[in-house]
Amino acid sequence: MEIATLDWLRTTEGAHVLAHATQVWADHSGDPVRVATAVRRLEPDPEKAAAATTQAQLRARAVAKFGDAARVMFFTPDALEQATRTRVADHRAARLAAAIPEGSVVDLGCGIGGDLVAFARAGLVAAGIDQDPVRVAMARANLDALGLPGAVQVGDATTLDPSGFDAAFADPARRGGRGRVFDVEGWTPPWPWVLDLLRRRSLVKVAPGIGHDLVPAGAEAEWVSDAGEVKEAVLWSPDLSTTDRRATVIGERGLATLTDQDDPGADVRAVGAFLYEPDGAVVRAGLVTAVAAGVDGGLVDEHIAYVTSDASFRTPFARGYRVLEELPYREKQLRAALHERGIGRLTIKKRGVQVVPEELRKRLALRGDSEATLVLTRVAGQGTALLVEPF
Ligand SMILES: C[S@@+](CC[C@H](N)C(=O)[O-])C[C@H]1O[C@@H](n2cnc3c(N)ncnc32)[C@H](O)[C@@H]1O
Repeated sequence: MEIATLDWLRTTEGAHVLAHATQVWADHSGDPVRVATAVRRLEPDPEKAAAATTQAQLRARAVAKFGDAARVMFFTPDALEQATRTRVADHRAARLAAAIPEGSVVDLGCGIGGDLVAFARAGLVAAGIDQDPVRVAMARANLDALGLPGAVQVGDATTLDPSGFDAAFADPARRGGRGRVFDVEGWTPPWPWVLDLLRRRSLVKVAPGIGHDLVPAGAEAEWVSDAGEVKEAVLWSPDLSTTDRRATVIGERGLATLTDQDDPGADVRAVGAFLYEPDGAVVRAGLVTAVAAGVDGGLVDEHIAYVTSDASFRTPFARGYRVLEELPYREKQLRAALHERGIGRLTIKKRGVQVVPEELRKRLALRGDSEATLVLTRVAGQGTALLVEPF
């Protein structure tokens, strides 16, 4: 999108066309052809009509990340994809604001401002820089639309001296993004620049796959999950860090955090009455043993992220299951056992075993009215099938 088109969308006339596009988008359940036709009836200029339609579509998509604020914000498809979701950005901003109350932060590569607006909302003096002029214009428009103060400018973050700010934040763009392998190649700004930045008071959002060995000495790595899904890791420079490793779990009931200081370690033990599946942030942070200690339990296997205990605990850091019985691990006997119990619907969970749940489910040829959850894992090195029920 051209900046002139964004400027137009923010005029009274443009806002009217965008409101119309938003309405027809909802009325036509996002059918692109019908929406485009309806918008063109009000706005004959094809470029303006297309821009309004695209924004209506992106705002609808952005609600999942930004909630109601999305209805007044501006996005490009890529920048929306890269932006930090509000609940995660607000947590980070609140933690920074607690460390530097009413201090200033510069966001080095702010995009459309997902983090920038969170910093401003947390009462920090927020400034952003990005090399992409359209994103800068959108970040400015987003601060404005949300009634937040802040300054944004176009520029190369790697040449800016952040020493005039109390803290610096970066969320480098990552090529490939979500692969299983954490790859520091192709970051913009690049990884060596990140390491350099972490020598001053700063925080850097990174992919959750970051290896513990890549975390610079003295820095804290915090893994954050939202609604059960690991979203990111953040590296806190030594003077903002309060521990080495932390798992922060954001859920419906608020936020809970666990650190390596809460981890007395735990042993492997026999499967008890309850099984716990630690949250992904806990697993990534290497704090499964802290969860085991917290539920009076142990690990089912030295290398597997399942915890077992004889006690039932509610914990934000793990999903709990009652262990009903152990079933045969061999497929033929397992199928017979499931048939015998009339289990027609089966949730299959697995850790540490070579099983493709969808394929196994087909081969099990389930029949019956009962529903169950099956955990396939290694217990003390042995393949094991446990019939469990969530509690
Ligand atoms: C992952 S996005 C940031 C998203 C942002 N945190 C949010 O929540 O909306 C990374 C941004 O860094 C910008 N960027 C990359 N290299 C840069 C550089 N050398 N100088 C300025 N901006 C840069 C990109 O244009 C992109 O907008």
